[in-house]
Amino acid sequence: MRFGSLLLAAASVASAVQAYWLGDVPHRGLAPFAGNNYPVFRNVRDYGARGDGVTDDTAAINAAINAGNPCNKGCASTTTTPAVVYFPAGTYLISSSILPAYFTHLIGDAASPPTLKATPNFAGFGLIDGNPYYSPVLNWKAVNVFFRQIRNFVLDTTAIPPATQATGLHWPTSQATSLQNLVFNMPTAANVVHVGLFMEEGSGGFITDLTFNGGATGASMGNQQYTMRNLRFNNCKTAIIQLWNWGWTYHGLSINNCQVGIDISAGGPSKVETGSITLFDSTFTNVPVAIKTAWTYSSSPATAGSMVLENIALNNVGVAVQGPGGTMLTGTGGSTTIAAWGNGHSYLPNGPTNFAGPITPNPRPASLLGANGRYYVRSKPQYENLPASSFLSARAAGARGDAAADDTAALQSAIDASVAQNKILFIDHGLYRVTRTIRIPPGAIIVGEAFPVILSSGPFFNDINNPKPVVQVGATSGQAGYVELSDFIVSTQNVQAGAICIEWNLATSGTPSGMWDVHVRIGGFTGTQQQIAQCPKTPGNPAVNPNCLVAFMAMHVTKQAKGLYMENVWLWTADHDIDEQLNTQITIYSGRGLYIEATSGPFWLWGTGSEHHVLYQYQLANTRDIFMGQIQTETPYFNPVPNALVPFPPVAALNDPDFRASCARGGEGNCAAAWGLRVINSKNVLVYGAGLYSFFDNYSTSCSTFSAGQTCQQRITSIEGVAENVNIYNLNTIGTREMINRDGNRVAWYADGVNTFASNVGVYKSG
Ligand SMILES: *[C@@H]1O[C@H](CO)[C@@H](O)[C@H](O)[C@H]1NC(C)=O
Repeated sequence: MRFGSLLLAAASVASAVQAYWLGDVPHRGLAPFAGNNYPVFRNVRDYGARGDGVTDDTAAINAAINAGNPCNKGCASTTTTPAVVYFPAGTYLISSSILPAYFTHLIGDAASPPTLKATPNFAGFGLIDGNPYYSPVLNWKAVNVFFRQIRNFVLDTTAIPPATQATGLHWPTSQATSLQNLVFNMPTAANVVHVGLFMEEGSGGFITDLTFNGGATGASMGNQQYTMRNLRFNNCKTAIIQLWNWGWTYHGLSINNCQVGIDISAGGPSKVETGSITLFDSTFTNVPVAIKTAWTYSSSPATAGSMVLENIALNNVGVAVQGPGGTMLTGTGGSTTIAAWGNGHSYLPNGPTNFAGPITPNPRPASLLGANGRYYVRSKPQYENLPASSFLSARAAGARGDAAADDTAALQSAIDASVAQNKILFIDHGLYRVTRTIRIPPGAIIVGEAFPVILSSGPFFNDINNPKPVVQVGATSGQAGYVELSDFIVSTQNVQAGAICIEWNLATSGTPSGMWDVHVRIGGFTGTQQQIAQCPKTPGNPAVNPNCLVAFMAMHVTKQAKGLYMENVWLWTADHDIDEQLNTQITIYSGRGLYIEATSGPFWLWGTGSEHHVLYQYQLANTRDIFMGQIQTETPYFNPVPNALVPFPPVAALNDPDFRASCARGGEGNCAAAWGLRVINSKNVLVYGAGLYSFFDNYSTSCSTFSAGQTCQQRITSIEGVAENVNIYNLNTIGTREMINRDGNRVAWYADGVNTFASNVGVYKSG
């Protein structure tokens, strides 16, 4: 015993010097609604996990996850019991699944990712099962699984016999979730049946920096939509099997020595299950069949299997695209690059033209590019080279985070102190109530712990005629400088008709400023006073409850701002109460989603969503050089009772849509409904995948089917004025009759683009 504890002491001394800062910083996170002593941070070693590759650590890891009784088996969802479960470097032997709770992040040492190694007789659906089948249905409704991450692990199934079913990670989840920096190691035997990543449902989502080695299938996936980038597949039989989707954006895939690269042939030509994929800046090396599709000129549904390829390098690829009838695009024994190619429906700018063949690649503005002509990308920084002493804790600096105290002054001084001391501000978990604008100055680097919330409150933010930012980045539009922000949430409390959750003023030259996993979450959770008790849904009643105006705008990028990289950013007005176990719907009103009116780019929107805002989800005006992919939107569920004429009067200075005027000019159906995407007088707006959805009419989904005529709203995409190089790949709309409008005129009609569940336009170019 004594010898053992000496070893442990020695190990912890060593780790105090070398370990990842997240393990070393003092842990002060507070979950104000979880009761006293609820541990936000858990180090699996403190719960008995050894990480020695010999001891079975399964029970200890699950004990760390379940400490404090978070939202696990049988719980619908929660925001009140957040957790970070931290794994120091080591090899953790497991014999059954690790079962993370809702709103729980599993994070390994970023400098030395721990290995989760399955025993030969491992039992379970995934080394990590992110949504178990305790019954015939998933534990959590997949489309309501938000706010969870898994980062920095090696998932190793090589000890499981190759012919025995095994899955690395089961991940049916949705928005504001992410996987980052994972390696899946699987056997390479000919009879292997292992699968690295499996998902069958959900409304994702974002995934980056995964490597799959071996196995029958690297990733086998069905989901509404996803953005995935930097995925590497080595020696898998099939790299990716797409089970079903509406739209999928893949960037930076590297598929090597696999027999099939991406298989989107599920369902076959008579019932194609893959709605669409957009694949760009990727390589296939030593792959006999790069892409296998079920699409033909006469396959069904008409546009299903829509595909756009751009900048795809082939090295020793037998067939580039193989259809049911044979080769659609040949490969090469040497090397070649597909500049751009596709199949589906094109509108250049009018259509549809049903096509399969080369297309003109998007002209890419140099400002949007990184290395080798590819679009610029940068994964969320994890600061693995910095010691714990580089971090300043917001709570240690005096902020309370208890959802009650006014933290305005304390949080501001913590931010300012971090910049002055050249440190990273670590916002310990908590709800930081603020009654004035929080200013993030140039030089700030901020990292949250399990999505701490900056919660606006009080009359300062409640004047619809004099809106105020909750978080302001850069003091004035065009202030020069650089920031990095990750892993926190901006929200509002009670009635906040004048709250602009994030105002982005900063003009960054050189390396872009970044927002990674920074979300706006408005309403529907404990502490907001915007829940069922205050704002129940009121189907059929067009009267607006004035106490349920909860935001003026989610995010405003102002005129002189530039140089912002956004990745996995979800600007969500809640449609339901996350903290109520029936997930009952609520009716709250947020005026606007994301508004970019910066006169010059660049801006990147990798894996962003904007949902349930009244006037629009995305609006771009007088701007340029913007990359977007995949974007996802939803119209408010109460639409059109009331419609978008209320309660936010249009503000001309913000280029708000004036539905009273535009719908008077021949607008039919539910014309006065939120735009999913509105682009005014803009240039080089390049959309690589868009899912613009309108599921509801007066809280009923009966309008969002082909048999009902997709009547939830009349129009959803508007391109107005000068539009130079405003191009959209794989636009998928639901519940909307006119898919694209140009200056009020219909360009694309839902019934011409029938896809699996959405309507699809494969290629739109404004000309
Ligand atoms: C809206 O739905 C409610 C109940 O679901 C119904 O009573 C009402 O008549 C509907 N109103 C309209 C305008 O469709």
